[in-house]
Amino acid sequence: MSVLMRRAKVEDLDAIMRLERATFVTDAWPEDAMRRELESPHGYYLVAVDDAPAPVPETDESDAPDAAGATIDGTSGGSARPVRPPVGLLGYAGLLAPAGSGQGDIQTIAVAPAARGMGLGRGLMHALITQARRRHVAELFLEVRADNAIARALYDSLGFRQIGVRRGYYQPDGVDAITMRLEVPAAVTRPAASGAHAALGIQPRRADAGEAR
Ligand SMILES: CC(C)(COP(=O)(O)OP(=O)(O)OC[C@H]1O[C@@H](n2cnc3c(N)ncnc32)[C@H](O)[C@@H]1OP(=O)(O)O)[C@@H](O)C(=O)NCCC(=O)NCCS
Repeated sequence: MSVLMRRAKVEDLDAIMRLERATFVTDAWPEDAMRRELESPHGYYLVAVDDAPAPVPETDESDAPDAAGATIDGTSGGSARPVRPPVGLLGYAGLLAPAGSGQGDIQTIAVAPAARGMGLGRGLMHALITQARRRHVAELFLEVRADNAIARALYDSLGFRQIGVRRGYYQPDGVDAITMRLEVPAAVTRPAASGAHAALGIQPRRADAGEAR
C-alpha cells in the first residue's frame, strides 16, 4: 500500500460518501452538504488514497502481439502505458476556516477500517492543523461523540482540550457531544541544515572547512 494525501476534489464525492455512510451509520451527512463542504472557498478537505500501482500481469511476449498497447483490463488501447484501476479511498478529513476569522473547525475525519491504526488519522489531523496555521487560525474547535474513545484520544494527544458538553447532541442515539478547542501552536522552526544533519547523526561540514587560503 502506498498512501498519497492530497486535496479533495468534487470528483472524490462518491467515494467520500461511501466511506461517510459506512462510518457514520446513524448520522452520515447528506451528499449535498458534503458537496458544499468540498466546494466551499472556506473549506480545506484532504483525502488519503492508496495509489500503489497495480502490478501489470506478466505476459509471454510470444502471445502478446501488441504488448506496448496492452492495458491491464485486457483491451488494446494503442497507448504505451498500462491502465491502473481506480485508486482506493483510505480516509478524508476537512477543515472550515473562513479567511480573517482567526477561528476554524475540524469538520470531520474518517479512516477506512482496514487502514486504521497506521497513523493516517494523525497525519490527516496534522495536515489540517498546518493548513489552519497558514490561514492564521489561532483557535481550532471540534465536536466529538462522548462515546468515541479512539477519536478523543487522538484529539487529546494533539493538544485539544475539552471546553463544553452538548447534552444529547447526536441523534437519534442521544449521545452527548464533547466540544474541544486547540490553541494552534506556532510552527516550530529550526535551522534546516543543522536539524537535518542532527537527525541523520552526521556532522555538518562547513563550506570552508579544510580549505587553506
Ligand atoms: C478516529 C480515526 C479517524 C483515527 O484514525 P486512525 O488512522 O486509526 O488513527 P491513527 O492510527 O493515526 O492513531 C491516532 C491515535 O488515535 C488513537 N487510537 C487509534 N486507534 C486506537 C485504538 N484502537 N484504541 C485506542 N486509541 C486508538 C491513539 O491515540 C492513536 O495515537 P497513538 O498511535 O500515538 O497511540 C478512526 O478511528 C476513524 O475513522 N474512526 C471512525 C470515524 C470517527 O470516529 N471520526 C471522528 C469523528 S469526531
